Amino acid sequence: MIGIHGGHRLEGEVRISGAKNAALPAIFATLLTPEPVVLRNIPRLLDVETAVELVRALGKEVRWEDGVLRIWGGEELCPEAPAELVQRMRASFLVLGPLVARTGSARVALPGGCALGPRPVDFHLQGLARLGAQVELHDGAVRAHAPRLRGALVYLDFPSVGATEQLLLAGALAQGTTTVVNPAREPEVVDLAVLLGKMGAEVHWGLDRVTIRGRPALSGAEHTIIPDRIEAGTYLLAGAITRGRVRACAACPEHLRAFLDRLELAGAEVAAGEDWVEVQGPARPRAVDFRTWPYPGFPTDLQPPMVAFLALAEGRSTVTETVYAARFGHVEPLLQMGARIQVAGNVLVVEGVERLRGARVEATDIRAGAALVLAALAAEGVSFVRGDPHLARGYEKLGEKLRALGARVWEEPD
Ligand code: UD1
Repeated sequence: MIGIHGGHRLEGEVRISGAKNAALPAIFATLLTPEPVVLRNIPRLLDVETAVELVRALGKEVRWEDGVLRIWGGEELCPEAPAELVQRMRASFLVLGPLVARTGSARVALPGGCALGPRPVDFHLQGLARLGAQVELHDGAVRAHAPRLRGALVYLDFPSVGATEQLLLAGALAQGTTTVVNPAREPEVVDLAVLLGKMGAEVHWGLDRVTIRGRPALSGAEHTIIPDRIEAGTYLLAGAITRGRVRACAACPEHLRAFLDRLELAGAEVAAGEDWVEVQGPARPRAVDFRTWPYPGFPTDLQPPMVAFLALAEGRSTVTETVYAARFGHVEPLLQMGARIQVAGNVLVVEGVERLRGARVEATDIRAGAALVLAALAAEGVSFVRGDPHLARGYEKLGEKLRALGARVWEEPD
């Protein structure tokens, strides 16, 4: 549990960690080759620890020192992913493609992860079937068989991040070329494609598609993970919501365009260089409307934190969630803190209030947790945010980084 004494202006610089959502698929990509893969800028997070545990359980050797992961070995991979590890985190399901590609057969439990409403894996399974895998569901697990995957054309009904990654991973070892039409283009997906390119697959991005030419075997590689745009956005909002000024260093402003645009419309001053962004919060934000959308649209992962900010705006903001229809776990606890928000289907109507008050609240997922921490930083009095293990899954050294910016934050046993 985190205790927060609100009302202190945040000022200063914060170093942004490597992106969790790029690190996880990169770790699973190491299953594609027994050769050593070196990954730099890896954040120390619970989800990354789970990914490391999972590839170890499947037969890989791992050394993790100072943000650098070295992963090698596993000539003979175990084709069954332990259910307990897969159910801890949805991204673990990405081991299915690499395992089928390497071993010809795999068994992976249906995934768990954040409570964001129904999150099926039908695109993953239909895509792998197109690549020639025989896919069956049994006792809450997926079994897939394919002596050798064959490249194919797959159309995605929605540009799913996970399904695009699954198909890139599988396509890297498939015979021939795999084409994903309507792929996700999130920076984390592109980062995985860059790594697969370094390992020997040939990846090309077109206007409406990505193609990957597979290889019979892939080589080792070295790769530096991109900065975490969601973590950067969260700290910039921490500055803005406390009327302070925060500079996110080792960040990538280009990945934050849609978010920074809305922040400016809300009255914040934004300055950016090649690898930093600085935001000065307004005396009081103006209401702005936005909708979440696949990249380069406004990221759904920053919707809850942005709603916390707009809860204090002058006027009414309308927020439309188009990626996860039910991603509103932050609303109820924000109401407890004095926010005025109405939910109608996948739309939130946020009537800004002048102040929030400290409360004891509980986070249901990583980004809801971030939203509550932000609200608590601005609220009057003391808040306790119970978010275990969600915040530790997504934010490296959260308390330490906030304290360095001047927040009065401490960790407490629940
Ligand atoms: C990833 C991110 C997550 C982010 C999300 C959207 C990781 C580890 N997680 O999750 O933080 O919020 O992208 O940017 O990278 N869908 C289906 N069928 C499928 C797959 C997805 O219907 O087979 C739906 C989902 O239910 C959801 C939408 O597609 O409504 C987007 O999901 P997707 O892009 O796949 O998200 P994840 O990869 O799970």
